[in-house]
Amino acid sequence: MSTYRLHPIDETSRARLAEQGLTLSLVDGLDDSEPGVARYDAWTQADGRGFYLDRAADDALAFHRAGVGDRRTTGVWDDATPATLEPVATINSWPTELSVPGGRTTTGWAISSVTVAPTHTRRGIARSLLEAELRTASALGAPVAILTVSESTLYGRYGFGPAVLATDWVIESRRARPLRRRTEAGRVEFISLKDFRSEVAALHERVRAERPGEIAVWASRWDQIAGLAPAQEAEAKKLRAVRYLDADGVVQGVVIYTVSGGEQDFTEHRVDVKYLLDATPEASAALWGFVVELDLVREVTARLRSVDEPLRWMLADFRAAKVSTIEHEYVRVLDVAAAFEARGYSAAGSLAFEVTDPHGFAEGTWLVEADAAGTATVRAVDEAPAGVPLLSLGVPELSSLYLGGVSAATLAAAGRVHERTPGDAVTADALLRSPVPPHLSVWY
Ligand SMILES: CC(C)(COP(=O)(O)OP(=O)(O)OC[C@H]1O[C@@H](n2cnc3c(N)ncnc32)[C@H](O)[C@@H]1OP(=O)(O)O)[C@@H](O)C(=O)NCCC(=O)NCCS
Repeated sequence: MSTYRLHPIDETSRARLAEQGLTLSLVDGLDDSEPGVARYDAWTQADGRGFYLDRAADDALAFHRAGVGDRRTTGVWDDATPATLEPVATINSWPTELSVPGGRTTTGWAISSVTVAPTHTRRGIARSLLEAELRTASALGAPVAILTVSESTLYGRYGFGPAVLATDWVIESRRARPLRRRTEAGRVEFISLKDFRSEVAALHERVRAERPGEIAVWASRWDQIAGLAPAQEAEAKKLRAVRYLDADGVVQGVVIYTVSGGEQDFTEHRVDVKYLLDATPEASAALWGFVVELDLVREVTARLRSVDEPLRWMLADFRAAKVSTIEHEYVRVLDVAAAFEARGYSAAGSLAFEVTDPHGFAEGTWLVEADAAGTATVRAVDEAPAGVPLLSLGVPELSSLYLGGVSAATLAAAGRVHERTPGDAVTADALLRSPVPPHLSVWY
């Protein structure tokens, strides 16, 4: 994997795009020569344009280069405009640790910055880029590819399925408080944004392996969450950060938030929780208690929370919160045996998957045999042995099951998974479901 950054470009997609007068090529974000920097910065501008961001100033370009320039960075250029540095399409990718059930991790091929210029959409460029990523990830041995999405309908066609759901919260503070919460022995205190930045990164490193769906978050993403990136000066003025220390003085949680509104009526402020991370139930209770019980506040909003957020059970009035669910992180299984051997299982037993995969990577019948320690061996078989629960499904559904947050029985009821024998999906769930619901607390 160490050579992933400049691993040769995928020949199939290169040839397909060349037929349209388009050049698929890598950009070296670590090339610090003048032309190298100009080429990478032009790629960054094209990426930002795709997501309707402001044109990046020099300091923002340097920040991006330093932050994500070490990724595998790919662009597409239109041969009709050879003098233009900016590509007409962008994508980047990198192998990262992905937490999977059982407190284990595997390698996820993370994909980001998927954009096609509006001048060049709907002619198969995104398809060429995504399929090139899958082939490259597979060639380099990544068991799964992963991404977060701007639109739900884009990635199923490449075999991705939603595997991590997330909740967005709107809380009426006055109805919600006082929270019914445990008594915490520790304390909360304000910290600077810089301290928040270092403490949130360290805390996330401590807890992420226990939370399926989380990845190793890169440094510049923490800078952005802490409001310390270029062009965030105005936002940073409004950010407040707080940490929770347990009775021994150990940091067990942090929150960063803004307070706004209240211009007409001082009791009508709104709190927006930008990021809250807790390592213990006490920290969760203390930090939610802190934000929900702030004086002069009418409403608290928060996004990308777990589907099993304990806050639900702390509200004084259950209906004080409106909670909506989105699908957040998508998985694409590439190597069934490696992926399903990397994760843990909730029970001993066997099950089989009969997988259809138009791209071929996961196609076949696979037998999973898990032992009492939650470790499985997985192998391709000609036919699922008699008596073993068998699920027939497409690779997006297999991928949705991977992190243990989506029920096979639910997918069967929805007609997305077929059981050989009624009850096979429930039996499969006993092995596959994770006691800790998957959660991913960032975008990538
Ligand atoms: C989404 C985007 C990358 C698509 O690029 P594109 O080159 O036009 O896509 P393609 O022509 O390769 O289309 C591939 C498939 O996706 C479908 N598709 C493309 N854009 C779509 C959209 N916005 N919604 C739903 N389907 C879409 C096409 O119909 C096609 O389907 P098919 O192959 O099954 O017939 C491009 O519109 C874009 O850059 N959007 C803004 C940035 C963004 O949202 N990026 C995604 C980040 S997660």
